[in-house]
This record gives sequence, structure tokens and C-alpha cells, in this order.
Amino acid sequence: MVNDKDLLTVDYKKDFPLLAAKDVAYLDNSATTQKPQCVIDAECNFYLKHNANPLRGLYELAMEATDAYEDARVAVQRFINAKSEQEIIFTRNASESLNLVAYSYGLANLKPGDEIVTTIMEHHSNMLPWRMVAEKTGAVLKYIECAADGSVSDEAIEAAVTEKTKLVAMAEVSNVLGRLNPIGKLIEEAHKVGAVAVIDAAQSAPHMAIDVQKLDADFLAFSGHKMLGPMGIGVLYGKKELLEAMPPFLRGGEMISFVSRDGQEYAPLPHKFEAGTVNAAGAVGLHAAIDYINSIGFDVIEAREEALTKLAFDAMQKIEGVHIIGGQTAEEHKGIITFTIDGVHPHDIAAIMDADGVNIRAGNHCAQPLLDHLCTGATARASVAFYNTQEDVERFIKCLSTIRERMGYGR
Ligand code: ALA
Repeated sequence: MVNDKDLLTVDYKKDFPLLAAKDVAYLDNSATTQKPQCVIDAECNFYLKHNANPLRGLYELAMEATDAYEDARVAVQRFINAKSEQEIIFTRNASESLNLVAYSYGLANLKPGDEIVTTIMEHHSNMLPWRMVAEKTGAVLKYIECAADGSVSDEAIEAAVTEKTKLVAMAEVSNVLGRLNPIGKLIEEAHKVGAVAVIDAAQSAPHMAIDVQKLDADFLAFSGHKMLGPMGIGVLYGKKELLEAMPPFLRGGEMISFVSRDGQEYAPLPHKFEAGTVNAAGAVGLHAAIDYINSIGFDVIEAREEALTKLAFDAMQKIEGVHIIGGQTAEEHKGIITFTIDGVHPHDIAAIMDADGVNIRAGNHCAQPLLDHLCTGATARASVAFYNTQEDVERFIKCLSTIRERMGYGR
């Protein structure tokens, strides 16, 4: 149970060496999160004590490395409640996971006239791979539009998914709008017509519990670095029967069980999709991040992030010239608030914020079609994590309320 009174008083920053040492309000958590000491230690410890090439050597050290890597896979399997660890493929990041599905499943299964359905709000990582599949196979890429508040209606999903649909792809949470999308409805409609559903969980996995069996997602992708883990480690979940039927994405060492002059037999899952030396230290770091998240609990994480989002949202609404993109209630933003200020370029907003020790992102957030659709151009974005504090939000609001004046308005 989350105790409302104490909700924002617990100090999690002490677990994050960078935040404990630097006097910044770090509000760019959708781009990447800071790393707790336990993650840094776990990655470091792998190299200090267990480093050898996993999955190859027969000596003790190599077996330790293999065990550490495979234990991380089981931790991920449990984290998203996958049926089997064979359904967990380690990649570099969510982008690589989505590309794996596009190159391996998409190119092998789509043909001219088939349809791929995605949304206009997707991160480029969940749009360009499907465009590539459409270009190479002759399939048609269709976009579900969102309303000005960022919502996607059931009717829009029903109209977009047809008998021709073979694959649908959607982010569980938009990296610009912060809105929780109706992925359950999309998955249901996709399965009615025999299409597979791909979920980009890059912005949801760090903030809420995911149960792939309950969701019935066919594929789901996320990055380690956005959920307190190291950069360079990501996850692709795929249903076993789909992964088994797919050709490999990359070819080379460790993804085969046998090679002759003229042929090869691929390794069983998950190794068929993990060619070359793997990022074992990254996987071990991700394991530590999952353990740390579990020790806090998503009930606390979600409650803190909601409270911080509401504090920021309510204060922003009162500042003249500030416009929040998407939903007009705090509840419609899962920790992400994207905004503009009349007459001030978002890069200037970010630069002034930086001068005041507040880190936010400015630009197109790798979602240019969405910003075109909403006619906004570049925007600024603040995104919270549970380790942020009320003081971080107050520092952000204090700076925000001075920006127009500092840019010369009202003088
Ligand atoms: N995808 C990351 C973001 O939205 C980089 O900032």
C-alpha cells in the first residue's frame, strides 16, 4: 500500500550516485534514466569477477559468465510474465528489437496488398522499420490518426484493421504525449483478422507492470537504459511459436548448432537471434535494475510519478503562454509533459532551463509525423521518474515561469 502522506518524502536519489553528486533537476527520463549504484556495481562486478565469453567456454569462468547472462534472461521473463525464457531475446535496444521483427517476421510474411497498421504518434523506431517492410514487400502502411488530445478511439482502430491487415504496431505509452494507448483493443482487433501485434513498450516498461500473457501481445520491445539499466541492452519478447518459425535476423557465431560447407542448422531459441558475442555485462546490469525496481514496487513507482506529474501539470497550466500538448488533464500524462511557450523556441527553453540546472529535452523527440499532425513543430518535454522530488518539479516550474520575461516579453 502506498502511504500518500509519505509518498514524496522517501529519498531515492541517494541510490543514484550522479543525482546525489550533481545539483540538477533531471527531468529527461524518457530519453534515458539515471543508474542506481547497484546497477553500476553489477555491471562492473561482471568485468571484475566473471568476465569471459558467455555461451562458449567450458572452463569455470566462462560458465559463470553464461550463468550470469542466462539468469538475467529469467529475470526479464519474470518481469514481463513471459511463459518461457526462450521467448526473451537480448538486443541492443527497443529500436533493434523492432527492426528484428521487421526484418525477420515482416519480410518473410508480408506480400503485396497486405496491410500494416500503425499510428501517427509512433516514435520513428516503431514507424521506419514498418515503412521498410512496406517498401520491400509491396504491403501498404496505414496510420491510425490521433485526436488533438492524443487519444485513439476504438472506432479508429476498428476502421483501420481489416481482413488485409497482417501486422499492427503501437506504443503502449507515447514518448511525446505520455498517453496510455488502447493496446488491448488493438491486439484484440488484430487477432480477429489473424494479424500479429507488436507493442513498443520503451516508455511503459519503466513505469508500470507488464504482463505479456494477459496482454496477448505477439511481440513486445523495450530498452534497458530507460528503466535504470545500462545503455546497449534491450529486449524483444516474442511468442515462441512465432520466433521459432522466423528466420534469423543476424548471422554468425553462437546462433547455429551446426555449420557445414554448404549449409547450417540454427540454434534453438533464444540463441538463434543472438549472433556474435553478447552484451552479458549489460544484461547483468539490467537484471540488477529489475531487482531494484521490484524492491520498490510499481505501486510506489506509479503513485510517485503520478503525484509529480500532477504537481507539474497543475502549475504549468497557470503560467501565461505555456501550452501543454495532448491531454488536458494530468491523468492523461504518464510522467511525460510536452509543451510550447508562445514566442520562445524550444531550444531556448531547454538552454534557459539548463542554465538553472533543469534538464529537459527539446526538439522533435524522434516523432516528426506526430508533431506535423498536431501542427506544433518542435516542442519542449519534461519527463519524470519515481526518484524525482517535489523540489525538482518546483525548480522546473520556477524557471518555466520566468522564461518569457527572460526572453524579453512584457518588458
Ligand atoms: N526515445 C527517446 C526519447 O523519446 C530518446 O527521448
